Order: sequence, then C-alpha cells, then structure tokens
Amino acid sequence: MAKDKTRFVCQSCGAAHPKWQGRCEACGEWNTLAEEAPAPRGPGPAAKAGGGRRVEFVGLKGSSAPPPRIPTGIAELDRVLGGGLVAASAVLVGGDPGIGKSTILLQAAARVAAAGRRVLYVSGEEAVEQVRLRAGRLGLTESPMALAAATALRDIVASLEGENDAALVVIDSIQTVWLDALDSAPGTVAQVRACAAELIRLAKARGFAIVLVGHVTKEGTLAGPRVLEHMVDATLYFEGDRGHQFRILRAVKNRFGATDEIGVFEMTGTGLMEVANPSALFLAERRGNVSGSAVFAGIEGTRPVLVEIQALLSPSSGGSPRRQVVGWDSGRLSMLLAVLESRCGMSLGQNDVYLNIAGGLRINEPAADLAVAAALVSAATDRPTDPDRVYFGEVGLSGEVRQVAQAEARLREAAKLGFTAATLPRRVARGGKAAAPPEGIALAETGHMADLVAVFAEKTVKRDRAAP
Ligand code: TYD
Ligand code: MG
Repeated sequence: MAKDKTRFVCQSCGAAHPKWQGRCEACGEWNTLAEEAPAPRGPGPAAKAGGGRRVEFVGLKGSSAPPPRIPTGIAELDRVLGGGLVAASAVLVGGDPGIGKSTILLQAAARVAAAGRRVLYVSGEEAVEQVRLRAGRLGLTESPMALAAATALRDIVASLEGENDAALVVIDSIQTVWLDALDSAPGTVAQVRACAAELIRLAKARGFAIVLVGHVTKEGTLAGPRVLEHMVDATLYFEGDRGHQFRILRAVKNRFGATDEIGVFEMTGTGLMEVANPSALFLAERRGNVSGSAVFAGIEGTRPVLVEIQALLSPSSGGSPRRQVVGWDSGRLSMLLAVLESRCGMSLGQNDVYLNIAGGLRINEPAADLAVAAALVSAATDRPTDPDRVYFGEVGLSGEVRQVAQAEARLREAAKLGFTAATLPRRVARGGKAAAPPEGIALAETGHMADLVAVFAEKTVKRDRAAP
C-alpha cells in the first residue's frame, strides 16, 4: 500500500494540496495552507463490519410535526433562527473576534436556563472567572446555567454523555477544542472538523441543541467557520463594525427557517440590546438639507429597513481617481458611475468618489442602485435630495430603472416613519391594477436614470430663478 503522505490543507476553504504553495488554488486566499497529517485510509468501520440493517423507504406524503423549538427569549435572535433553537440541531455562530458572540450567547443561555431548562456553557477561550465577570456585567450572576472551562474533546464528550436532560449546550469556541488522536494543532481544519462532527453527533443522539462559536480569521492561522457550514443545520454570522454600536446577526444557512433574515442589536455597557425598529436607528443621525445623502428603502430578510446612503465627490489630485466604498459593492458603484456618464451625460470622471452606508450596515440588494445614484447626482449637483423621500430600484446598463421585489412593504415602512414621497421603478400591474400605495406617499415612477438626473437639473434652474 502506498505510504500516506502529509498534505497541505487550506485553513480557509478546506481544500487539500499535495505540496505547500503561497496561494490556495481553490479559494484564492494567500498564506492559508497548513501541513496536516492524513486521515486514516482503508475501509471505514461501517464497511468493515458489513451486514447493515435494511432501511425502509417511504413516500413523500405523510404527516410530520414541526420540530420542537426552544425559544431563547431574545426576539431578534429567535427570528433569525426561524422561531427559536431546534432540539437536536447544531447552530454555528461565526464572526470577527470581539464582535460580541460570547456576549449574546451568554445572554441567550441565561434566558433559556431561566425558563427552567438545563443549559451547559463550555468556555474554551476564557477561564471561569472571566465568564463570571462578564455575567456580572450583564446582570446574570443569578442565572441557573452550568459553566465549565474545558478544551479537550474527550473531557467535554464524557461530561455531556453523563447529562440526561440538557436542552442547550454552547461551545465557545470550536477552534479551541482539540482531539488528542489527531496530530494537527487545535484550530486546524482537521481538528475543527473532527471535534465538530463528534459534538454534533452527540447533540443529535442526546436531543439537545448545540451552538458552536467560530471565529472568522483573516490570517488563516485558525480554520474559518466556512469549513463547518455544511455540517451544521444553521449558520449565523455576527457582523458589524467594532467602531459602531450596531451589530447585525444574519442567517446564511437555515434548515429550519428563512435565510437572509437579520437581527439588529446595539452593544451597550450592559450587553447587547435588541433593536426593534432598526430604520429609526439607522436614520437617527441623518441631517436634512445636505447634498449627497439619500434614503434607501431596503429589505433585509423579511423586514424592510430604511438606511441613509451618503456620497461625496471631491476633485481628484491627478492620477487615477479614488473610489472608496463602505458597506456596498465597489464594482456596482463603478457601474453606476459609468451609466451616469454614458447614458445621462454627467461628467464625474475627474472626481474622487466616496460612498458610505450610514450606521455600519452592509447592503447587498441591487435595489439600492437608485438610492446610490440619487446620492451621487445630489453630490455632483450640490443639491440636497428631498428629505422626506425614499428611493429604491435596480439600474440596468442602458440606464433603465428596473422592478424590484416587495415594493409595497418598502413603501409601508417609509410611510410608517413619516416619509411622504418615493422615487421607484414603474409599477407594472400583475394581472390587473397595481396595488394602491399606502396613504400619504406620493409616488414618482421613474423609467430611466436620465429622468432622475433631470429632477436635479430642474432644482438648479428653480434655485437660479429664485435667486435675486
Ligand atoms: P465578546 O462577546 O467577548 O466577543 P467575541 O466573543 O465575539 O470575541 O465581546 C467583546 C466586546 O464587547 C468587548 O470589546 C467588550 C464589549 N462589551 C461591551 O461593550 N459591553 C458588554 O456588556 C460586554 C459584555 C462586552
Ligand atoms: Mg468570545
């Protein structure tokens, strides 16, 4: 039999390479390859034993009860989970170090324990004293949850096997857990995968929900949460800028609920607080009557969210102009600038362009095109947008403004927050008349970007005429 060779495994995506190289061919990341001992070869234990039991195949029809849920009592978290944790399932919570993963899980664990369920919190990163200090800060010292500091998988499994009525187990973090049977260091792909598989198997067998914390690392010294995504039932990412108080919890995979659902939190001195009305929060610091600002009526998951988009143009000091984007796709910005130049006759090429989504939110919706365009045109003409107006619509390469989903929900949210006007794509009636807009909102249906630009040009004319 050929001798097993060590291989080099990308700590970001898990791809194996026969020899070391600077860049992973599979995912394109640099410096993420680490040497790992091979997995044992030969037939697996199941094939060796032979003579398995025949499984029974059934039809698709039949009744199945919804899975039993364990509400965490934190409404924003429960919504992202699709209605609470599911018994005998595994959830991965990923995010940058220091973003608040331990904080929210300690808060959730305390709520579940307070509801009379057995909760075990295994901390591999912090000593018991540190977790107690945090609990003190969060006002949770009276919580009946059980706490342990451990990193050896054998110890954790042995302890969990002795538990008969555990409802929730938190492992903070999976990258600190290690199995002594493997040669590779804790945090490598092999360790993280093997330990997670064992813990998830135990959760399914024993019927408790397990939450694994996984740090996102840019350096590639630890295996990222990505290598675990296919093993768990749900993956939540905790996002946000450490400079901002806002934290967004986003479901990217969920076998028991919708993905792209977000929960919004605010980091305070006493832990994470739920934000029930994110639009009001994201617009709180908006200042009316400045050019380069437009309000986008977006949809995050099932929820409409209004955010302010800010653009700034400044004359470029030679060389190629700068394009700086925070919270949006820079390729999309370049496309919009090209459309404004080629289809609407604006000249922006000599300017540095800065674009910012206020509040630290990241927007992925193409529906933001029209709002970004409004902010850019407003900045270029130095005319403020109407402060009571929201914008949404996708922009195509010929400058046409295209339909987006859930226009009614966006308009309702805008009306709720006191907006009185909306610039949006032409509404095409699907089999009859288009739904009536919510009361109090005037609609400006726009078919082409040139119409949007014309509105600002008109503003210029009006102001010039009004001037003495
Ligand atoms: P933490 O939950 O430890 O992050 P993670 O587990 O994702 O690494 O959060 C740590 C940060 O949160 C730290 O910078 C301090 C801050 N923090 C607060 O602002 N308020 C609090 O009540 C707590 C517990 C932490
Ligand atoms: Mg932590």
